[in-house]
Amino acid sequence: MPTVAVFVGSLRKDSINRKFAQSIGKLAGDRLTFRFVEIGDIPLYNEDLWANPPESVLRMKREIEAADAVLFVTPEYNRYFSPAIKNAIDWGTRPWGKNSWSTKPSAVIGATPGATGASAGQNSLKGLLTVVDTVLMGQPEVYFQYKPELFGEDGSVTDAATRDFLNKWVDRFAAWIERTSEPKTRAQA
Ligand code: FNR
Repeated sequence: MPTVAVFVGSLRKDSINRKFAQSIGKLAGDRLTFRFVEIGDIPLYNEDLWANPPESVLRMKREIEAADAVLFVTPEYNRYFSPAIKNAIDWGTRPWGKNSWSTKPSAVIGATPGATGASAGQNSLKGLLTVVDTVLMGQPEVYFQYKPELFGEDGSVTDAATRDFLNKWVDRFAAWIERTSEPKTRAQA
């Protein structure tokens, strides 16, 4: 089953974006394996730190490179995507010539308590994902208004229409990963 390295842009404990990502991971469990990547312990980008690179950065780069695809789940801050994600993306592109993002199938989703579903935040991220050489899925878009009543205590998606919508997104992302993945060598397969 394809593995997806998941980056949640909110660092707070009760993040709706983290809950949303966990619910989708549960729903997708028969088609995709979500692996959440910790980015809260990654320092702000500083070129000097490459002299003795932070373990958090090296770990993140290993996790990206080991995954079949990457998923960004971003809150919207002042109509922009999360700075924690920007920082993680910048570290992942370096050192020069060792861009961990290169050729990875990618997707963006996001949630807000309000009706706009992080649409501006998500769209500010999408251009960057092509710049860093991921292969971005454009559709379907997921501009999600998070309402706790759509989910069960265990994070399962209890609302039928929401479950149907998210299941279709999972199917499309799984197909996107299959279609856009670089062919594996015999040794990697
Ligand atoms: C926000 N929020 C917000 N919401 C929105 O729809 N558009 C926006 O531009 C902003 N801007 C914004 C800036 C800052 C600094 C904060 C802290 C918050 C509200 C935001 O959607 C809400 O706090 C979410 O709950 C954040 O996501 P998590 O942390 O719950 O995942």
